[in-house]
Amino acid sequence: MGIEVIRIGQRLVRDDRVTTHVALVSRAFGAEKIFMTEVNPEIKDTLAKINKTWGGDFAVEFIDKWKPIVKKKKEENFKIIHLTMYGESINEIQEQLQKEENLLVVVGAEKVPREIYELADFNVGVGNQPHSEISALAILLDRIQKGEQFEKSFPNAERKIMPTKNGKNVQVKETRD
Ligand SMILES: C[S@@+](CC[C@H](N)C(=O)[O-])C[C@H]1O[C@@H](n2cnc3c(N)ncnc32)[C@H](O)[C@@H]1O
Repeated sequence: MGIEVIRIGQRLVRDDRVTTHVALVSRAFGAEKIFMTEVNPEIKDTLAKINKTWGGDFAVEFIDKWKPIVKKKKEENFKIIHLTMYGESINEIQEQLQKEENLLVVVGAEKVPREIYELADFNVGVGNQPHSEISALAILLDRIQKGEQFEKSFPNAERKIMPTKNGKNVQVKETRD
């Protein structure tokens, strides 16, 4: 399954940390790429450093407009999942989503344009109470991949965590000049 994420919404400086966390959750929970509209350019450096240290090649792409990306992905046979508290219950729809090949997950920031509800193949609610795009995204990605995202390897990592009951066990790759 190929998963990409797009964050839409207005630019808010106070949103920077949330945007970074949406990108970190996307990467750690098995997505390959995130598109975002106007954000702090530092986010690319942050994610590049995370990739270098912890592996993988998760991509961040800055875009001007969200709509052409959503339309292009639809043409490429991605199914569009829009996360919204008004959507169909994730409990009802998760089995159907697990069967899909390629997914573009849309999360909002502030106000979400009405059009996205129509463009989406699925409007999905993670519960029907307002909470956060970070939590909604994490739960959706976990439900559709059934926890398998945590078995995935992150190639070319400088550091790899060996899960341990107590303390920290980190394998550090030897580098030779
Ligand atoms: C802080 S909320 C903004 C809600 C805002 N009132 C709106 O116009 O949609 C930011 C994003 O979190 C996600 N979100 C929040 N609660 C959710 C829920 N219960 N289920 C699914 N997604 C949710 C949606 O993607 C939403 O656009």
